[in-house]
Amino acid sequence: MCGIVGYVGERQARPIIIKGLHRLEYRGYDSAGVALVGKGGQIDLYKCKGKVDDLEHFLEGKDTTSTIGIGHTRWATHGEPNDANAHPHFSQSGRLALIHNGIIENFRVLKDALISHGFSFRSSTDSEVLVNLIEYIQDTNECTLEEAVRIALQQVVGAYAIAVIERGNARRIIAARQSSPMAIGIGEGEYFLSSDAASIIDYTQEFVYLNDGEVAVIEKGKPLQIKNLFGEASKVDIQKLEMSISQLEKGGYPHFMLKEIHEQPDTIVDCIRGRVNPETREIILSGVLDNKDKFLKAGRIIFVACGTSWHASLIGEHLIENLCRIPVEVEYASEFRYRNPIIRPDDVVIAVSQSGETADTLAAIEIAKRCGAFVYGICNVIGSSIARATDSGTYIHVGPEIGVASTKAFTGQVTVMAMLALVIGKLRGTIDMDYYHQVAGALLELPETIRKALESAPAVEKLASIFTYAHNFIYLGRGYNYPTALEGALKLKEISYIHAEGLPAAEMKHGPIALIDAEMPTVVIATLDHTYEKTVSNIEEIKARGGKIIAVISEGDTQLRKRADFCLEVPSTAECLMPIVSIIPLQLLAYYIATNKGRNVDQPRNLAKSVTVE
Ligand code: AGP
Ligand code: GLU
Repeated sequence: MCGIVGYVGERQARPIIIKGLHRLEYRGYDSAGVALVGKGGQIDLYKCKGKVDDLEHFLEGKDTTSTIGIGHTRWATHGEPNDANAHPHFSQSGRLALIHNGIIENFRVLKDALISHGFSFRSSTDSEVLVNLIEYIQDTNECTLEEAVRIALQQVVGAYAIAVIERGNARRIIAARQSSPMAIGIGEGEYFLSSDAASIIDYTQEFVYLNDGEVAVIEKGKPLQIKNLFGEASKVDIQKLEMSISQLEKGGYPHFMLKEIHEQPDTIVDCIRGRVNPETREIILSGVLDNKDKFLKAGRIIFVACGTSWHASLIGEHLIENLCRIPVEVEYASEFRYRNPIIRPDDVVIAVSQSGETADTLAAIEIAKRCGAFVYGICNVIGSSIARATDSGTYIHVGPEIGVASTKAFTGQVTVMAMLALVIGKLRGTIDMDYYHQVAGALLELPETIRKALESAPAVEKLASIFTYAHNFIYLGRGYNYPTALEGALKLKEISYIHAEGLPAAEMKHGPIALIDAEMPTVVIATLDHTYEKTVSNIEEIKARGGKIIAVISEGDTQLRKRADFCLEVPSTAECLMPIVSIIPLQLLAYYIATNKGRNVDQPRNLAKSVTVE
């Protein structure tokens, strides 16, 4: 859910761990802690409720000389966020210290068994159960820590990335993973450990990503060893991660979210680079072309995703049904996995995920694979679990997204879906080639179109100051822009904590219009497309009931300029790409309202960047 960092080598571990934790803090942030093997071989453990800054203050003046350590930022699943529940956790005797991301589902049974063997617990976490289980096994079996970890994990049901250190051993960390990411950075005579390789990119570009069911023995001065839970050696596959440190910093913006919103002209360039040929306007997606048959024979496409990625998938549904004439379903991954879904071998399942670590989406992929479907991934994080679990896929290449509220990943996802629909439509002969080249041209112009849309920022900021204290919002759209309305509403609620509801504009009269009064602002995406006139009628219906309209309109639309109470203009593009443009003022609106309210936009309350638990 949140973050793990570890180090063993010749350098001081504490600053490396703290820096890494700061980089991971956006993922989960209710408490933090670090454990180090001190000079006398003892384990020094420091942890507290709050942010990594609080941990840093707590560490001030403490002697933390040590060249080995593990650190954690927590997003509580079991037990409230307090000092006792913060990680690392000591085993009962204090001989072991463990950090854990994820959930031990059978912790209750294991805990009861340990209590019956005389163990007592200092925290309410599931994680403390695991460290005590390891200690119990090590003591009863008189085995090494590595063996004890492997045996303990054979008894665990759930998701975990763990790292364990042992009193008296300043050279070795044992790490393991199941459904929760873990990367080991390889340095010169030193090793780094992180749940996100990007957090330790300052030190190395060479990483080994643990697979599910693998345990790593990370020992200074020795080659890295990776085994499965039964002790059989696995291949150590070193991969290179190329990423610049500036991609992880705010670059002069007050928040990552604002930086990421403004980065979108550039991230779309990266997303289409090498895929849309500027001369011929041909689109190449090797993930599709290498698996032509699967797409030619596809009886159905099923998108599985959560949150913003699910909204992007709804746009994918329009694109694929429209341009490829393949029936499409869009599923919440969390519902799909527990519904005993009907999946046929000629289905293509497309898993969409920024982080590539969302637990529900990963589980949906497993089900789809078991049923024989071909699984395609649309991910951002290179080498992530979903990217690796899918049969093929396309990265959106928008760079690290740090703000918890997804912005540039959404526009990257929709861009990839547009390219996907064009490529599949061409393969299947369902697309008019003039239209194909027209949309390809619009894709090439998209960075410039987004740049123009971003020029509305000062106008949006002004508008935000008028609506900062509204308690509710409705967001409406039709066709391609209905998912944009859902996404605009999600952005607002996530970071401002204002209640906002996204709806198809025509659904208003079936019930929600009862909510309309002067206190209920309605944001309507009413750009010039084939549903424009219908949307204008929906606006009239709201105005007739005293509602206030904020309309996102196409440049030069004089009709709505007169009718709406407030207008935000966006430049035009191909209708099927419009959500990529019309979402821009809505991302900005959410941002400015949230900052006016003094919210922590990059780390909104209760949220975590990647949801690696169910
Ligand atoms: C978006 O702003 C959210 N924070 C959230 O809904 C997110 O999109 C969702 O958790 C899915 O994440 P993923 O794309 O990394 O799978
Ligand atoms: N389940 C553990 C806890 O509640 C770990 C949560 C996490 O991933 O941070 O402490």
